[in-house]
Amino acid sequence: MNCPVYVIVGAGQAGANAAAELRRQGFDGRVLLLGDEPHVPYERPPLSKDALLRPEQTRCAVHAEGFYDQHEIELILDVSVIALDRQARTAMLSNGESLAYDKLLLATGARVRRLPLLDALGANVHTLRTIDDARKLTSELRPGRRILLVGAGVIGLELASTAVDLGAHVTVIEAAPSAMGRCSPSLLSQFLCDVHRRRGVALHFDATLAAVARENGEIVLKLQDGTRIVGDAVIYGIGVEPHTWLAEAAGLAVDNGIMIDTQCRTSDPRIYAAGDVASRHDAASGRHLRRETWENAQNQGIAAARSMLGLSPEAEAAPWFWTDQCGFNVQFVGDMSAPNWIVRGQLDTPPCVLFGLDEQGVLIGAITVNLGRDMRSARELVDRRAKIPPEVLLDPRQALRALVKAV
Ligand code: FAD
Ligand code: APR
Repeated sequence: MNCPVYVIVGAGQAGANAAAELRRQGFDGRVLLLGDEPHVPYERPPLSKDALLRPEQTRCAVHAEGFYDQHEIELILDVSVIALDRQARTAMLSNGESLAYDKLLLATGARVRRLPLLDALGANVHTLRTIDDARKLTSELRPGRRILLVGAGVIGLELASTAVDLGAHVTVIEAAPSAMGRCSPSLLSQFLCDVHRRRGVALHFDATLAAVARENGEIVLKLQDGTRIVGDAVIYGIGVEPHTWLAEAAGLAVDNGIMIDTQCRTSDPRIYAAGDVASRHDAASGRHLRRETWENAQNQGIAAARSMLGLSPEAEAAPWFWTDQCGFNVQFVGDMSAPNWIVRGQLDTPPCVLFGLDEQGVLIGAITVNLGRDMRSARELVDRRAKIPPEVLLDPRQALRALVKAV
């Protein structure tokens, strides 16, 4: 019998976990893991945090050295998959070779949304997605440097925190009226912005870039309201776009991500997708949802691998992610668009927990601020869509663990 060949395109969080899961489940065919970066698969969350603050002590690798050889995972780096021939079941590579596959997983992630106005400035303009991007930032984030951060999303605020820790002066320019609007309720964003301001960060909201220039070696950003902001370097984080062009060119169904069913299958039964690039059918809401988080990439990579082997994926739990900034570890679970938020403890003096309730009082989201140990219980309550009277949820004498047992 021919040895089956499973090809994974994209050697990031989702791809590396999928490869490991194939072996964990006893798959004994060939596993090829292809990545267009020159590095072994690494985790991105440290890139805006410890990899800049403590580069020598920070490890980013997804798996330990030797893991891929040990598990006979053929890691092919610095090579892009440039086209798929679905009929012939082959993947064309940038080095001129082609690979035949029996099943294929697209784990191509996302890339930074570009801002040509800023890119045109050339030197001292940066974005952050890869380990090489992070290395370039280390020369900018120095004491006394004036750093202009465009975008107050997760990347912008984490970099603001890191840059201040490294002694830089920071100005943030955000187009929307508030920070982290994609993934955080305004109550929490406001709290974080207040903390950043107290650390000396200047924040401009509702701020649209009208023109940019380099004058006497300085970078000048002009806002539409006439404000001029001067700095030494710009870093922008204005969101990401899923890396879907390969799937689109191959004629797969794509709509803000490669569309997959609950089993991570695309519109081609031999092709699967996972991670930032995938938009998964959510049985509860009936919608397709694309997430941009570390845990989603890991779990979906594992789920896709299981599905490739004909095993059913584990049931999906409520989505979870975290951010670290200004000494606060903030963990989020569930639906951040919940209409009503209540606080257990005091938000201005963490630790505390925020609970997000829907119109019927059902718990659909929760956030811990410097209280990671309560996240497990909060998560279970959200997973169970608990309906607990607010006065009970907010009562510090009621341990969350005990509430889990009671629902
Ligand atoms: P990626 O990590 O993007 O990996 C995809 C890989 O595929 C890339 O290496 C890409 O170059 C490669 N590729 C693309 N196309 C091809 C092709 N055609 N051929 C070959 N290779 C290809 N999440 C959190 O939950 N918490 C955090 O605190 C957090 N912090 C973050 C900080 C930073 C700076 C960044 C950038 C992200 C952070 N994230 C965080 C998000 C998290 O890292 C991502 O959700 C996760 O990396 C997605 O994994 P992925 O494998 O789907 O995609
Ligand atoms: N000028 C200023 N701000 C802008 C502009 C612009 N032209 N365009 C968009 N923005 C703002 C958005 O309003 C938003 O607040 O940039 C912010 C982008 O926030 P995110 O969507 O969170 O994206 P980003 O911070 O770039 O993070 C990218 O990294 O950490 C991961 O999971 C995270 O996948 C995400 C990725």
